[in-house]
Amino acid sequence: MKLTPEQIRQFEEEGYLFLPNVFTIEEMDVLNGAVPGIFAEQRQEVIREKGSTSPRSAFYVQTWNPVYEKLARHPRLLEPGAQLLGSDKLYMHQFKINAKAAFDGAVWQWHQDYATWHQDDDMPNPRAMNIALFLAEANEFNGPLMFIPRSHRKGRLEAGHDVTTTSYPLWTINNETITRLVAEGGIVAPKGPPGSMLLFHGNMVHASSSNLTPWSRWIVYLSLNRCDNAIRRFKRPTWIANHEFTPIETLPDDCLIRDARGRRSAAE
Ligand code: SIN
Ligand code: MN
Repeated sequence: MKLTPEQIRQFEEEGYLFLPNVFTIEEMDVLNGAVPGIFAEQRQEVIREKGSTSPRSAFYVQTWNPVYEKLARHPRLLEPGAQLLGSDKLYMHQFKINAKAAFDGAVWQWHQDYATWHQDDDMPNPRAMNIALFLAEANEFNGPLMFIPRSHRKGRLEAGHDVTTTSYPLWTINNETITRLVAEGGIVAPKGPPGSMLLFHGNMVHASSSNLTPWSRWIVYLSLNRCDNAIRRFKRPTWIANHEFTPIETLPDDCLIRDARGRRSAAE
């Protein structure tokens, strides 16, 4: 799937791009069917909310679940990444499913991902980005991602290491800076059905609030980096910040449903 010049311009201007309904209901059934089993796993890659057994994030899922192994090589996610990062040689810096569980999903404080990628992992440049796919609907109530449009143009902002407010450490931005950025750019929260894609720059300032609704807000994130921008510090384990820089080879566009369809037609 190729982005149009207008979509590329919009990404560069605003720092993000929202594409509703990119994956079909059939494909989303395959992806969502695997999620309860993934969150039920007791393993270090599945992080729980603070003081609760609700899942917060499942990391590195592309290495331990066959459905997500395919998604991590899907051309509808990888091709726009290659266009926006200006290289066909991309590797997966991080891969995770964030749960934002019904009634229990806690906040993500305001931050830029590149702050963490730079400070913890020594990634040389912000030539890395996130491609998110909504597994469940994100609506105004269930803690959608919030962006400050155009904040990616400010470069890497000063951040403090937050190791207390949630179960996951993050380099976060203070309230004074956020107040100043919001006065300039406002806040947007792209909302949409399962199968929608949200692409955003490594320096985009973002956050999400808690989820008090009965609707879990599952999102899968591919953090793609250029192979020539690989990290140089290996403080975080490979399942959080990948130490392997092999370029991703894409699969056919129907990879998620091809086996299921093959089996169905064989049975007919
Ligand atoms: C993140 O910023 O890494 C996650 C935010 C979210 O899923 O709400
Ligand atoms: Mn983030």
